[in-house]
Amino acid sequence: MKILAVETSCDDTAVALLDGTDLLAEEIRHQDVHSAHGGVVPELASRNHLETLPSVIGDVFAKAGVPNFPGTIDVYAATAGPGLVGSLLVGLSWAKAAAWSSGKPFLGINHLAAHLFLHYGKPVKFPAAALLASGGHTCLLRMDSWERITMLGCTRDDAAGESFDKTAKLLGLGYPGGAALDALAERGDPSAVHLPSPLHDPSLPEFSFSGLKTAARIALEKGADPADLAASFRLRVVDSLVSKFLHQCREIGAASMVAAGGVTANSLLRNRLSRASALLGIPLFLPDVEHSTDNALMVGRAAAAVLDSDPSARSSLQCNAFSRWTGSGLSPLCCH
Ligand code: KG4
Ligand code: ZN
Repeated sequence: MKILAVETSCDDTAVALLDGTDLLAEEIRHQDVHSAHGGVVPELASRNHLETLPSVIGDVFAKAGVPNFPGTIDVYAATAGPGLVGSLLVGLSWAKAAAWSSGKPFLGINHLAAHLFLHYGKPVKFPAAALLASGGHTCLLRMDSWERITMLGCTRDDAAGESFDKTAKLLGLGYPGGAALDALAERGDPSAVHLPSPLHDPSLPEFSFSGLKTAARIALEKGADPADLAASFRLRVVDSLVSKFLHQCREIGAASMVAAGGVTANSLLRNRLSRASALLGIPLFLPDVEHSTDNALMVGRAAAAVLDSDPSARSSLQCNAFSRWTGSGLSPLCCH
């Protein structure tokens, strides 16, 4: 079962070719045009996807050594949302057109579910507790199976990645600055600058990061050392993510810990989660750094999961792009 998966929800043009859940080849092209603007410019992102996608697809076929003609691919999948609508439309329209012209099924995939489904095909045991921390979302979830995933709570304001990016911008680290702040934090003393721990009750499955970002700005204005500030900020965010995640692991009686989303590239978060997993004796499913941030492998695995539970599943060609998703049950297929 060859799946061609496309991800264009924000500023990465990503394509993956899978055989079931196995990756044959993939390509992730990050858009650099936005760094000069200090944030993603939606119209530039859409135009850039439109220019880049054909060559990314060509590269993936070449890498996989698979001929690029109708008939090779069994299923086309693309992210339908949440994300930037103009960007989503590029990948979505391409996948629909390819499916339509070759008479093959098309699947419209939920981006949030896709982050978790990167781990589909691995020996995840249920019930599992999941932490999804990205640039747009920060949530805790309960997974009773791959078919039953329930939201426990999300951030009330900024997502964790967004707070990293905004604080990195204050520190002059460019955009997106999460990784740069992480690197700077390695040289700082996390106890040198005092920052608050918002919503710090671990039993509350909700987050708040906007006050922390404001406190970081005030500390910087008062002359805090940038590396110390970065270290303190990183520690506060990671403490909040880890303490609430571990509380839910205990509440649920989790047999696995599942982590996903761009912020799981953070080195302190990775250390903390690995240590907790070893201490609790609960296996941890953590993406490799490259697949923490947006990629198309996760979209392909989400599509593989949909087809495993219903081989005749397909989305309507009327499947539309959407910018936001709110709901209590998360599943990979967002348009039927
Ligand atoms: O999952 P993702 O690629 O996109 C969304 O779905 O939002 O996540 C991107 C986010 C950005 O905010 C980026 O700064 C953050 O992940 N990020 C990091 C690190 N690497 C990427 N945040 C903290 N530390 C990192 N090392
Ligand atoms: Zn994402």
